[in-house]
Amino acid sequence: MALSPQWLDELRSRITLSGVIGRTTRLTKTGREWKACCPFHNEKTPSFTVNDEKGFYHCFGCGAHGDAIRWMTDQRGMPFMDAVKELAAEAGMEVPAPDPRMAKAAEQRASLHDVMAAAQAWFVDNLASPAGAQARAYLDRRGISAAAIREFGFGYAPDDRGAIAKALSGFSKPMLIEAGLLIDVEGKDPYDRFRGRLMLPIQDRRGRVIAFGGRILADVPNAPKYLNSPDSPVFDKGRTLYNLHRAAAASRQSDRIVVVEGYMDVIALAGAGMGEAVAPMGTALTENQLELIWRLVPVPVLCFDGDSAGQRAALRAIARALPMLKPGHSLSIVTLPEGLDPDDLIRRDGAQAMSALLSKGETLVDAIWRFERDALPLRTPEDKAGLKARLIDHTETIQNPDIRSLYRRELLDRYGAFAFPPRPPREKPAFQKGRARFDQRTTFTAPSDRLRQLTPAAVRSRMISALLVGLARFPKTIAEEGERLAGLHPEDRGQALLLDAMLEVAETRKFAVEIDSQPLETTDVAAILQERGLALPDRESIGGMKFAFLSDQPGEPEATRELVQAIELLVEKPAIEIALAEATARFAEDPEGAYAEQQRLLKRKLEFERRLMQMAATRANASAT
Ligand code: UTP
Ligand code: MN
Repeated sequence: MALSPQWLDELRSRITLSGVIGRTTRLTKTGREWKACCPFHNEKTPSFTVNDEKGFYHCFGCGAHGDAIRWMTDQRGMPFMDAVKELAAEAGMEVPAPDPRMAKAAEQRASLHDVMAAAQAWFVDNLASPAGAQARAYLDRRGISAAAIREFGFGYAPDDRGAIAKALSGFSKPMLIEAGLLIDVEGKDPYDRFRGRLMLPIQDRRGRVIAFGGRILADVPNAPKYLNSPDSPVFDKGRTLYNLHRAAAASRQSDRIVVVEGYMDVIALAGAGMGEAVAPMGTALTENQLELIWRLVPVPVLCFDGDSAGQRAALRAIARALPMLKPGHSLSIVTLPEGLDPDDLIRRDGAQAMSALLSKGETLVDAIWRFERDALPLRTPEDKAGLKARLIDHTETIQNPDIRSLYRRELLDRYGAFAFPPRPPREKPAFQKGRARFDQRTTFTAPSDRLRQLTPAAVRSRMISALLVGLARFPKTIAEEGERLAGLHPEDRGQALLLDAMLEVAETRKFAVEIDSQPLETTDVAAILQERGLALPDRESIGGMKFAFLSDQPGEPEATRELVQAIELLVEKPAIEIALAEATARFAEDPEGAYAEQQRLLKRKLEFERRLMQMAATRANASAT
């Protein structure tokens, strides 16, 4: 059916979206929009908005987004055409009659399905015939049972360039070419694509044969082991998963989907009692394929080889999945022992071992952390900063704001614990023996101990409290300084939660600009704090510090300037500490160099802390007078 974009626009414009949604979801009017608790995910405070003027809904919590048709298909679970028909009836519009060209394409697809079915029957016959003896022996050698041969529809393509056109003489040659069964090159008669190969049918979700994979019987170095059908009107490689139609049914029992690399792995898993395995056809998982499996189970299991190629493939799949994450949707990553595919592992260690491995997958966040931590050496502060940047790059691709900030927090926590491990207990350092001139007091009075005497950590904590109050009053700065604020990492949990909430609301707002472009308001910050049961620091915890951004009659430019200054100071401190920890850790290897470096950094740190104190103190004095 030909539904032109103009026709669909007309349909949308005649439908009042809130009327459609309001039938099943309670909406409350707020200004020009409607609000509700999101019907796509579980929530207590409404983050779902409906905009009638623009004709779409959007959820700030889970990212659900769409128009009236999308609502009918996604929320009400209707097929697309049914949704269109129902809405058209409501709008008093007529659904256009089928377009003859489209009808012809549909007819052609139908006959391609017939060609494929006929080819499949012929391949199966060949396998049983005398010509199939070698292929049968191969299956036997690999221990593939008669039941599996039937179930998976193994067949055989004879080693003949002109066999299929004869066998499928009921179909025209152009048809066989279109189906990918004949290869057509200029100046030659079209000839059989699959010759002397063990054949595996690739089926769509309804079990119809849409393509083939053909395996050579004797592995020859450098010869492609499998040959697959080319894409055709019925076969789109990136939207197909081998065995999906059987796996979907099996997944309802086991609540699991396992993605492996090869056809034979799928078949071996099924033989081991795990019928819920699928495989892409020798390519990286596409977004569409991920969507297909997420429709079946919330956390599909992805199996990858332990070698470097397998691990690169895993990282590619993860990178593809991150932008698509939704609440409750994730992946479980299983790494196989190096050099074994699931088929090999089952053969060597048994079904039990495979099943145990599948149940012990890594979470996505664990896998990202492991990959990036191990990706490059981490010898210098620059290396470590590189790791941090890579981790942040991953999180930045996540579209869902809640998940994005949770990943960010989790990965940066791990990074922090890794890059700045707790100091080992003080032992007699080895280098002291031969190097008496490094007298213990100089080198091993831990810098932080000395600093703690000079500048109480309380100053920093107070500054952060003051800053949080300031940000709540001038939320524009949250958005503008988000990047640096994210690097602040307050030690105090209450402060950390407050800052997180503010960063999140700023990010959500940035995301929402396409819907309404109001800047971040103090009420927005107040709302999220209330939603999370968080309260701003009280006067006491600010300890009498008085910045322009805390003043009763704040001058906006002055207040913003001071806010930015305070952020700069507060963020610089951890950076110096990173370098200090590094220098301290290097004492054993390079005492002289490390010592010099430590002294230099200590000096900078002291200077910085002095500036911090000064800033707080001047402000306090200034406002006292
Ligand atoms: P594998 O080599 O891992 O497949 O390739 P496999 O199923 O374990 O093969 P066996 O056990 O040696 O028979 C993974 C997938 O990559 C595609 C196929 O889809 C295969 O299942 N592939 C591989 C190709 O398309 N062409 C090739 O030459 C090799
Ligand atoms: Mn294999």
